[in-house]
Amino acid sequence: MAISEQTPEVMPSALRDAGTMQLVRRGSDATGAQAAALFALANGLVGVEGVIDELASAPAAYLPDAYVRRPIEYHESFPGYATATDTRIACPSPVLLRLSIDGAPVDFAAAEVADTETTLDLATGTLRRMTRWRLAGGRSLEIAAERIVPLAGAACVASRIHIRALDFGGAVTATLTYGADSAAPTGAEADDPRISARLRPAWTILSPLPGDPSSVTRFAQDAVELAYAQHVTCPAAPVAAVVGGHVVHGELVVGGVLTIDRVVALASSRGRPVDLAALDGAATGFDAIAERQRAAAGQLWDHAGLAITGDDALAAALRFNLFQLHQSASRDPHHSIGAKGLTGEGYEGHYFWDAETFMLPVLALQAPAKARTLLAYRIAKLDRARAHAKALGHARGALYPWRTIGGDECSSHYPTGSAQYHINGDIAYALALYVAATGDDDFRSQAAPMLFDTARIWMEIGAFDPRRGGAFCIHGVTGPDEYSALVDNDFYTNAIARRHLAYAADTADWLRGSVGARSAAADVDDAEVAAWRRAAAAMWLPVDAELGVNPQDDAFLGRPKLPGLASGDGHGPLLMRYHPMILFRHQVAKQGNVVQAMAMDLTAMPLSRQRRNFDYYAQVTTHDSTLSSVSFAIAAARLGDEAAALAFLRECAFVDLEDRHGNTSHGLHMAALAGSWLVLAQGWGGLRLDGAAPSFRPQLPAAWTGYRFRLQWRGSTVELAVDNMGCTYRLLAGAPIIILDHGRPLCVGSDPVTMARPALKGVIFDLDGVLTDTAEDHYQAWQALADRHGFAFDREANHALKGVDRAGSLRLILGQAAADIAPDVFDAMLAEKNAAYRVRLADYSPANLFAGVTELFGALRAAGLKIGLASASRNAGDVVRLLGIADAFDFIADAGAVPNAKPAPDIFLACAAGMGLSPQDCIGVEDARAGISAIHAAGMVAIGIGSEEALPDADLNVPAIGDLSLGQILSAEQAAAGQGNRSTRTGKVEDMPC
Ligand code: G6P
Ligand code: MG
Repeated sequence: MAISEQTPEVMPSALRDAGTMQLVRRGSDATGAQAAALFALANGLVGVEGVIDELASAPAAYLPDAYVRRPIEYHESFPGYATATDTRIACPSPVLLRLSIDGAPVDFAAAEVADTETTLDLATGTLRRMTRWRLAGGRSLEIAAERIVPLAGAACVASRIHIRALDFGGAVTATLTYGADSAAPTGAEADDPRISARLRPAWTILSPLPGDPSSVTRFAQDAVELAYAQHVTCPAAPVAAVVGGHVVHGELVVGGVLTIDRVVALASSRGRPVDLAALDGAATGFDAIAERQRAAAGQLWDHAGLAITGDDALAAALRFNLFQLHQSASRDPHHSIGAKGLTGEGYEGHYFWDAETFMLPVLALQAPAKARTLLAYRIAKLDRARAHAKALGHARGALYPWRTIGGDECSSHYPTGSAQYHINGDIAYALALYVAATGDDDFRSQAAPMLFDTARIWMEIGAFDPRRGGAFCIHGVTGPDEYSALVDNDFYTNAIARRHLAYAADTADWLRGSVGARSAAADVDDAEVAAWRRAAAAMWLPVDAELGVNPQDDAFLGRPKLPGLASGDGHGPLLMRYHPMILFRHQVAKQGNVVQAMAMDLTAMPLSRQRRNFDYYAQVTTHDSTLSSVSFAIAAARLGDEAAALAFLRECAFVDLEDRHGNTSHGLHMAALAGSWLVLAQGWGGLRLDGAAPSFRPQLPAAWTGYRFRLQWRGSTVELAVDNMGCTYRLLAGAPIIILDHGRPLCVGSDPVTMARPALKGVIFDLDGVLTDTAEDHYQAWQALADRHGFAFDREANHALKGVDRAGSLRLILGQAAADIAPDVFDAMLAEKNAAYRVRLADYSPANLFAGVTELFGALRAAGLKIGLASASRNAGDVVRLLGIADAFDFIADAGAVPNAKPAPDIFLACAAGMGLSPQDCIGVEDARAGISAIHAAGMVAIGIGSEEALPDADLNVPAIGDLSLGQILSAEQAAAGQGNRSTRTGKVEDMPC
């Protein structure tokens, strides 16, 4: 059964009395500003607020080109300040219905609503509304209306209106006209920076141009011109075109109904009259539009269907959110998606980074053509971004504006506007994601000039810092958290810049390698690509030694906290109450930059650091941005922190359905709505998109018994069905595709594939001889000691020392002679050996890491496994630092702190405990017999690096760490657990048959 056909078992409380494919509101909840946003209909070319036809006298439509450009006035202006702002303006309501009964106009504003109910039917893409009116004079009237904005059609609004006289008869005149009454924002709204710029000046009705059909009405305001063409039919009464609409003259008897179909096509232009040909695409018959809409909505759910068993209300909310996102997704390559989509006037209709980081990923995985449109918009504005970079004093490159419609920076507050350079990286991130999801190489080459010019900006504002070991540092930027500004080394910015530079370098190499694409790469030379790679490799992304967290920026951790305010004090966002500098000086965040980078997988991070980052930033973040709950929910779900993950998920899933930020009336929070699906897919589903194939790590919160969602990948549709055992992958359409489940590649073809969820939670590695070749250096140091003191020792004898601690090793070397040696001499020998060993260590660098370790660690992390180190060496900490992997471990056990050395289990037990895991949830990897014994004594499965001959007790032997795959680790665990019936896969993505 298709998800979209499911019937609810439980009535969801938040979508009151609704099926899970419907949003139903009654009474005062069905009218008013919040309902107008919730019931907005749109199709990427036009949006119409969910207003009631007979009350729709104010502007209520949004057309992407209907925006005005006004100068920004500064008392003190400096070079490069933004000079003007774009403001989207609400266009005349195309749904206004006026009635007269027996010649007297009905004043609906003064009439009483006896009953009203509005239903947004997500399955058919239709808005249905029924209102019973008690009119002045006691007459009762019912108006029922269906409304459609065709998802795949032109910019038009189709309505079918039924007017029923409940207790009277008489002549009725219905005027199908347009609402353009102006009303300026008042009171608190006028001071809210998130809305105050909205304009409500009057629209002028223009005289028809010669040749205009009588069905066309023209409007103008500032540089914007509109043309509405209306088609009205009424089988029971005559219809006449009048100025500004149509009139239907009918007769009603008691209980009788007058049905009118109305289709309004809308078009806009800037600086010139609308060419009426722009109105041609709209179909005129309501039934035909409705039929096509059913097909379009059906297709949407074929690609985006989802279910959550155990929380129908949440599933219903997510469906509503997705529907709204798809409605507002621009289908015009000259436009992106505004922060409020096409549902309201908040943020002046501006396009921000959240279009690329929150909305585009969902579209890329559900409706890739819409994702492409958003990127095409950015490409179309590249010249404006170049001009912006120039205005800010950059010699080269392009910097996209923080907020814009027409392509120029519209923020008058550069510290939280243009300083958000991360927008360049966000666009590159979105491009990479779109290309990965679609394989659209043509578009990648088309986008290359944009990718390169935006990458160049990092080299303009970053530098290799000799005081930090040559790390690439980025100065004077603002990250997504706008409660810190103009900082050095914002973690999110550095992380996305690194991704951007690497992708730009890869793309340059790819272009130069592909025939016919050389021209796109023509202006990039080898030296520039090499510089990008160097900067990416050296990017400064530190870990604070004391707190074990990633600092949000160079100064953040040192600033005082804002006591009592960080977790939200119920008095609304801090930005509304404090001078920005108060916020900048404190350790307080509007949203979490580090957590955001975690949610987007911008950096590889051990789970334990993810946990510390999450906990640390949770206590300094107010979540004043609705985007914040998305990244916190994703991060918490991946950490298995069910309570936090579900609370944050509800925060974004219901942000508008429950008006959680109190400003749904400004329009829907499109990024948070999109983000609620990202929480399901990336948080609970563990979806990562940073590899060659989509990778999943599906987890199930105890509150649900299962969930399902779908996504598009390279033209195929896959559905995941997650339950308490694991996940079943099903190909719904298209060619077989390769995906990874917990790092295990599999081909999803005609038969569904069920993958069991691994029980394994951590892998504990020995160091010497497993991750690096220090075994040789230990040997050489012992050999030198033995030679100097005249003991018999050789390579053969050295085998017995592997894994044995320093003193134990010397005892083994000395044999019987050990008893005759004074303790201080013995200790001096240990010191001598260690000194010789440390001399050899001095030359160690990341190049000494065994091949395959980085990849294996990456796979382990992608599979959600913790990584521990249990070495007998007191030098282990220094060695992993020299190898550049110190930050890769969730826990490094200290050989000096455990009572008994290997083969006793102590160090493995200490490591499991340090990672917060039970020993039976861990596997150990060792190259020494003593180590294998220690692992077994700890109750863990043991993987031996070495032959069966050398390590006969190991549960699995591989010749070298580079030969060990995640699949083998998971199989070893399952085999040992006697769960051979569970499916496991091994191998690499490239080796998969499909
Ligand atoms: C590892 C090595 C041994 C070494 C021991 C102590 O287990 O395999 O060969 O003796 O660590 O190392 P340390 O660096 O503390 O002397
Ligand atoms: Mg070893």
